[in-house]
Amino acid sequence: MSLYSEHLKTVMRRFDEALEHTGFDSVLIFSGQPQVAFLDDNSYPYRVNPLFKYWLPITESPKSYIFYRKGETPKLFLFQARDFWHTQPQLPPGEWQELFDIQLIDTIQPVRSALSGALSQTAFLGEAFDGLSEWGLAEVNPTSLINYVHFQRSLKTEYEVSCLRKANVLAAQGHNAAKLAFDNKASELEIHHAYLGAIQCHETQLPYNSIVALNQNGAVLHYDVYETKAPAEHLSFLIDAGALHDGYCADITRTYSASAEGFYAELVQAVDEAEQAIIGDIEVGRSYYDLHVDMHRKIAGLLAQFGFFKISAEAIFERGYTRAFFPHGLGHFIGLQVHDVAGHLKNAQGESFAPDAQHPFLRLRQTIQAGQVFTIEPGLYVVDQLLEEFEGNEDFNWQRIAELRPYGGVRIEDSVHVTSEGTVENLTRDAFASLK
Ligand code: GLY
Ligand code: MN
Ligand code: MN
Repeated sequence: MSLYSEHLKTVMRRFDEALEHTGFDSVLIFSGQPQVAFLDDNSYPYRVNPLFKYWLPITESPKSYIFYRKGETPKLFLFQARDFWHTQPQLPPGEWQELFDIQLIDTIQPVRSALSGALSQTAFLGEAFDGLSEWGLAEVNPTSLINYVHFQRSLKTEYEVSCLRKANVLAAQGHNAAKLAFDNKASELEIHHAYLGAIQCHETQLPYNSIVALNQNGAVLHYDVYETKAPAEHLSFLIDAGALHDGYCADITRTYSASAEGFYAELVQAVDEAEQAIIGDIEVGRSYYDLHVDMHRKIAGLLAQFGFFKISAEAIFERGYTRAFFPHGLGHFIGLQVHDVAGHLKNAQGESFAPDAQHPFLRLRQTIQAGQVFTIEPGLYVVDQLLEEFEGNEDFNWQRIAELRPYGGVRIEDSVHVTSEGTVENLTRDAFASLK
């Protein structure tokens, strides 16, 4: 049996269990539709409902539906507009076509007729639309069912991992092209275009807005301005950019120093080594939260080693100073969504971890398990807003911090898969290695 058909069997089994536990007998999943901008007739880029693409690799077919009743063949109502204004979305060839009962539609009416009277125990999953309340559905987006499915989604099938591998290879190709453009002293926008050209996709087909930051812009965590003019001097380059394969996401960050020598080049190397060391500590049964806290210890070590403080690494950690330099979480689940779901869920019943005041931005609190795929993305930056509260604090070596400011900072990000044997597969480093 192929990886995809195994995956579909798992999805069906998971939905059977989720429906059983939440009191529904079937589910109607809407792929979504483009949203029109206010007072305009242009729409925002369409993004497929992740619960739709969980079932099959169709990401460009708005206004489509999957209907699944426990134990039955899933039914796909695939929208193909009779429309001379637009081209038809290309359907990916593949086995999914044999595994669904497919009906082509060009209006909503055939869906209503086919399901008329059959929806009283059906949960609808997707963006609601006008008139939906007349469909006679049991519930729209029930939290109990969504939590159940989200919790199950934290363990990836082999098919999902194979898609994530391919997404990483594609993104790594883009990263290599972007690095070359940086070496050639390109502007941020030119680098961004080099990335898109290398992976042959539109900006709207990326899993998230790429961060392409030269020099001090690397300290802006979600920087997506893309300056059109190259800076007078290229000091550093931080790129956080991904790609999609059949709906699955890559999320990769690399940081480069223009000069092969000097303290910044050494800092990039040191963060890279610390990132690999923490990946080496991943173990089934360990809490991801512990890894995150351990990473703060390592960042404290680097802050001391590179002279950003006048106190010991231990004191830097104990006094909580690392949070000003490494303000985000160590990582997150990744899959159909770049920040994939369930990071805060304790169980399928929807119990969640209490927010942690010290680490409010950590997106992943679960215990590490075989089948999970998550990112590891430590960073160290000069974020002036976060340093304001420490102004005048004598523990800090402000002169050294000022030396780092023009470089922005450093982040290194890989996606890792915890295999069924409990080993760690680094999807991102393997992807770069495959291109050599
Ligand atoms: N690119 C978004 C993130 O790393 O979480
Ligand atoms: Mn990430
Ligand atoms: Mn990222």
